[in-house]
Amino acid sequence: MCGIVGYAGSKPAAPLLLNGLAKLEYRGYDSAGLALLEQGVRHQVSGVSKNNRAHLLIIKKAGKIHNLVSAIKSELKTDTRERITAGIGHTRWATHGQPTDENAHPHMDCGRRVAVVHNGIVENYQHLKKQLQAKGHAFRSQTDSEVLAHLIEEQLKKYPWAEAVRRALGQIQGTYSVVAVYEGEPHTLVGARSGGGALVVGWGKGETLLASDVPALLAHTRRVSYLDDNEMAVVTPEGPTFLDVLTGKPVSKKISDIEWTAEQAEKGGYPHFMLKEIMEQPRALEDTFTSRLDPRTGEVVLEGKFWDSPFIQKFRKITLLAMGTSYYAALVGKFLLEKYLRLPVDVENASEFRYRDPIIGKDTLAVVISQSGETVDTLVALREAKAKGARIATICNVMGSSATREADGVLLTRAGPEIGVASTKAFTTQLGALWLLTLFLAGVRKTMPVAELQKKAKELSRLPQQMAALLKQRKALEKIAREYSHYFNFLYIGRGIHYPIALEGALKLKEISYIHAEGYPGGEMKHGPIALIDSKMPVVAIAPKSSGVYEKMLNNMEEVKARQGKLIALVEKGDKLAASKADTVIEIPTVSEDLSPILSVVPLQILAYEISKKKGREIDQPRNLAKSVTVE
Ligand code: G6P
Repeated sequence: MCGIVGYAGSKPAAPLLLNGLAKLEYRGYDSAGLALLEQGVRHQVSGVSKNNRAHLLIIKKAGKIHNLVSAIKSELKTDTRERITAGIGHTRWATHGQPTDENAHPHMDCGRRVAVVHNGIVENYQHLKKQLQAKGHAFRSQTDSEVLAHLIEEQLKKYPWAEAVRRALGQIQGTYSVVAVYEGEPHTLVGARSGGGALVVGWGKGETLLASDVPALLAHTRRVSYLDDNEMAVVTPEGPTFLDVLTGKPVSKKISDIEWTAEQAEKGGYPHFMLKEIMEQPRALEDTFTSRLDPRTGEVVLEGKFWDSPFIQKFRKITLLAMGTSYYAALVGKFLLEKYLRLPVDVENASEFRYRDPIIGKDTLAVVISQSGETVDTLVALREAKAKGARIATICNVMGSSATREADGVLLTRAGPEIGVASTKAFTTQLGALWLLTLFLAGVRKTMPVAELQKKAKELSRLPQQMAALLKQRKALEKIAREYSHYFNFLYIGRGIHYPIALEGALKLKEISYIHAEGYPGGEMKHGPIALIDSKMPVVAIAPKSSGVYEKMLNNMEEVKARQGKLIALVEKGDKLAASKADTVIEIPTVSEDLSPILSVVPLQILAYEISKKKGREIDQPRNLAKSVTVE
């Protein structure tokens, strides 16, 4: 989704904003632009040459950030670039209007004195545009966002800068995170948020920043404040002040310290973030367990008062809410929570949940799973569950994100920043966190014998090491990728707790290689997918021997071979029987069935990565996809 960066300080703003935008590239985008406030431009006042007027410069381009960099180099002299110390930048992910230069942000008013960048959707923009056109406003783009610049221009006729922005925001329906600048107040940026994705204020020394995501700020500061819904920040080099958008009254905000470092958000010598993040998984899983899981006693400790509240003993139902890869983690979680707590567990695709009238209430623990904590459908589902009386816990990777702020209890996955659009380490740490949640609840509600808790805790604590050994198979998987990268369709099958891994394996392949891939439960094969099997259809079968449905998977594999399908089997090390049926074998270590998803997904991530690499795809930024989907 769109990325936003803003800067007010004393350093040259253009390179700093471009650098910030580059850090947000992973969110997905199709055009980029900057609005820069050039100070000290000479102008004539009553025939006298004055030196202190500011001038707004807009440079924006369709395509990648390097197009914008070239445009800036050719349009701005070096000394001008160095003089400019305030501005805003944006990467756009098109919703209204094609990805063209005109539709790229920032957008300006008629007088070219105001510029805005916007993430979200102005739902009443058609109506507002007509009203503004009737007043003589000419529009340059097809976007919904441009109305904001014109609305602010109108309000500036009556109100000072920040108040004009606040009044303009009051006229729009929909979602926004927005930052605006104005020639008349060149040192003051105004940012605001209502829905539309995160907006974070970075507190620097003699400089203040705004961004839609923390990685854009890390090089400058790790002290941040997150805007909540209907809050705005008036930002100068000296610092921000916060206001309520609806009332205009001051709001006090706390400053949080970010634990992530700037280096963590770099590729660290890997060709792609995705590969780096795949390789980081043993560390990420270990960090997620550290200080929480005691393999000796089987005890799990979770941080925060919520986990000690009486509700934890009382609730009767669990609802898991998530999207994308996080949704597949939730499907695995259902198996664990049902099995060890003996409570009903629903898994809901958040975008569907929000438009139903789900049965959920005071006896429900709703667990929201989200890497970013900013996925719009997941957040709306969270609010819906809360409004119906459920208590909310979130398994989330970004402390300070909306999900962590709105939940009653937080279980942080300690994956570190995940930049690659295709989620990898967030997924395996979500599975680790779901295990922690299961063992914690089973411990406090006494639904598992202590010996069983200890056994599982021990097995879990061994996983990071087993995963590290598994990652050594990369060379072998690269060879397999070479063999299979020319196929156009793939099927992934699994049963029980392995079915979500079939879905996740297929998702990884389709999102980064653009090869059509589907995941199915093995038992569903005869109800349709089997009609697709021929010598051009590779089938990836997830068939660990420890699985209660192993024999059934062997049958599915036979059925594939009987129809000349190409069979890639994921089997336990040394399982000669399953291996004998397959064209290609990928081995995983033997672990208990319900732990196996954390390992079995890893070779599927690498396979998808290597196939996409063979096909020369843009692995970290696949077409049409965004890391965090903050608009519906
Ligand atoms: C997007 C990303 C996926 C992610 C999904 C949910 O589709 O590309 O990788 O799984 O959003 O995101 P969340 O941040 O809520 O886990």
